[in-house]
Amino acid sequence: MSWLRTEVLRRADIVEVVSEYLPLRKRGSNYWALSPFKPERTPSFAVSPSKQIFKCFSSGKGGDVIRFVMEIEGLSYAEALRKLAQKYNIEVSDFSEHAQATKERQRYTALYQEAAQFFQRKLKDSPASLYLEKRGLRPDTIERFGLGYAPAEGNALTRYLLQLGYSEETLVSWGLSLRNEHTGRLYDRFRHRVMFPIHDEYGSIVAFAGRSLGEEEPKYLNSPETPFYQKSEILYGLHQARGCLRQGIGALIVEGYMDVISLHQAGFTQAVATCGTALTPAHVTKLKRYTREVILMYDSDTAGRMATERAITTALSVGFFVRVVSLPAKDPDELLQTAGSEAFQELLKTKQSWTTYLSSQSPMLPDAPERYHLLQKLGQNLQVIPDPLLRRVYADEIQQSLHIPLEFWESFQQMEQAAALPKPQQRQRITAEKELIRIAFTYPSVSHGGIPLWQLLQEEWRHLVFAEEPAEAIRCAFCEWELPFPPTPPQLAERLSPEAQDWLAEVLMEKYVLSPHWRSWDDSPLEEDPALTLESNLNLLHLNHLQRLLEENLLILTSLSPDTPTYKEHLSLHQVLLRQRAELARRQGVILPYRNPSLGPEEEK
Ligand code: GTP
Ligand code: MN
Repeated sequence: MSWLRTEVLRRADIVEVVSEYLPLRKRGSNYWALSPFKPERTPSFAVSPSKQIFKCFSSGKGGDVIRFVMEIEGLSYAEALRKLAQKYNIEVSDFSEHAQATKERQRYTALYQEAAQFFQRKLKDSPASLYLEKRGLRPDTIERFGLGYAPAEGNALTRYLLQLGYSEETLVSWGLSLRNEHTGRLYDRFRHRVMFPIHDEYGSIVAFAGRSLGEEEPKYLNSPETPFYQKSEILYGLHQARGCLRQGIGALIVEGYMDVISLHQAGFTQAVATCGTALTPAHVTKLKRYTREVILMYDSDTAGRMATERAITTALSVGFFVRVVSLPAKDPDELLQTAGSEAFQELLKTKQSWTTYLSSQSPMLPDAPERYHLLQKLGQNLQVIPDPLLRRVYADEIQQSLHIPLEFWESFQQMEQAAALPKPQQRQRITAEKELIRIAFTYPSVSHGGIPLWQLLQEEWRHLVFAEEPAEAIRCAFCEWELPFPPTPPQLAERLSPEAQDWLAEVLMEKYVLSPHWRSWDDSPLEEDPALTLESNLNLLHLNHLQRLLEENLLILTSLSPDTPTYKEHLSLHQVLLRQRAELARRQGVILPYRNPSLGPEEEK
């Protein structure tokens, strides 16, 4: 765990931090408030001072104090950490590892800044300058987007940067130069191209796209991904669009770099594009700090229509209001060049909700297969919407346009959920895993046979694999924990995804505390014997594990002929497993669900 994180968690108190944002009221051992993430009437936002975590039962969010600041302020992890460090007077510059990473990033963006300025200087009187003029870009637009020209000779930029003192390794690993395999000499990645610098949302240049001036392939050449440039996270134009988006205008998502630039030039400064990739949850999560609505405006070809459908699902899954505009031209840039900005303004007014857009894509509605696919698509999109209220609003829309009653979507959801439900045995296993995780964090130091409970579990868990993804992530992180003290949930959170953190917070803070009877409960409403809970759930897991081994072995056994040498091995393994299983079941008082009389004697009495 990083020094800064440890220090922040040591000094910050989650109750103190949360109460700066929300009025907290103590009930039982936890504090409660109305959710800051969703409108509600009954408090479902809980803070546990003893575990130093929060859980919002209506939005599903949960985690430690850093996660809370990230969510409530819309900050990145590093930003939230810095904010808390500041609040608790921790000198960030003391932290060498952090300072190191920042320095590396500064070196990287300085290099890209140097390169961008080089390209900009080369633009004057270049073929690219003429090209941009022909495409209708004004000088102030070219300036604002920092466009430039990469000269045609092989290594102009490389020579310039080497002369500034950058090493060959740096230029290659950070994507500006390539090495000729035969001569070992460096040459420029971008040659004879119009250069589009790609900024991160704060305005630092992290990559380039270079467009060919003629028909040369590829049309667009992009920087490779580096530790500071991840295509799946960067939106082209977001830096320039931020101000506009903050005013509550929906983000206009288009396909191309030129589309973004033309739109901004025409005054539509809410436009952004992905860098030649599909729209990812990371893209839209970033956008959500600025706006809650996206308007998709992809090219009018088949690829564009398919990309629109995928983008609808992605944006809905992060909780956006989603609308779509169908283009009467190839792309927004072409429309602006041919029809002008008033025509574009008119077109924007035709934005449709995603529900009507999808319906309009299936014109033959009385046709059963068409209707089937449409309903399935609508239902699956409704299901990914995390906010039940928003889901309801869209279900309402569909009811009005397609006359599908609201209740239909409820049963649709239940059918889909039933199909995805685990088998009873699997459910039992999942519950046991949850229970063990809960007691590992709730009673870590209770001694069991002379060993602290958390160490005992660490040993036991090394031999198991958990069924659910978040549980498995927590098991791994827990087993890797090395200090002589048990990990607290915030300490482990660093190694967990946001989903796993939500999951853990939920397991550790059961919702039943919210029941109408909470007033009559004291701090420990249920007397529980942690050792007993541990033993019975561990036994259940072992039983479950043995059962799976038995089934796998049996499958092999039945496929083997009795005269092969391995048959005997598998047969004796079968008997060993049966014996262990019977022993465990007896201790646990379980009636065995499974018995195969055809193979060997059962050892149970
Ligand atoms: P212009 O022709 O300059 O107007 O570009 P465009 O944006 O209209 O091009 P197009 O619709 O063909 O492509 C849309 C986006 O896809 C571009 O902005 C790029 O991000 C990406 N793209 C297009 N062609 C290529 C290519 O050859 N290679 C890569 N990596 N990306 C491309
Ligand atoms: Mn175009």
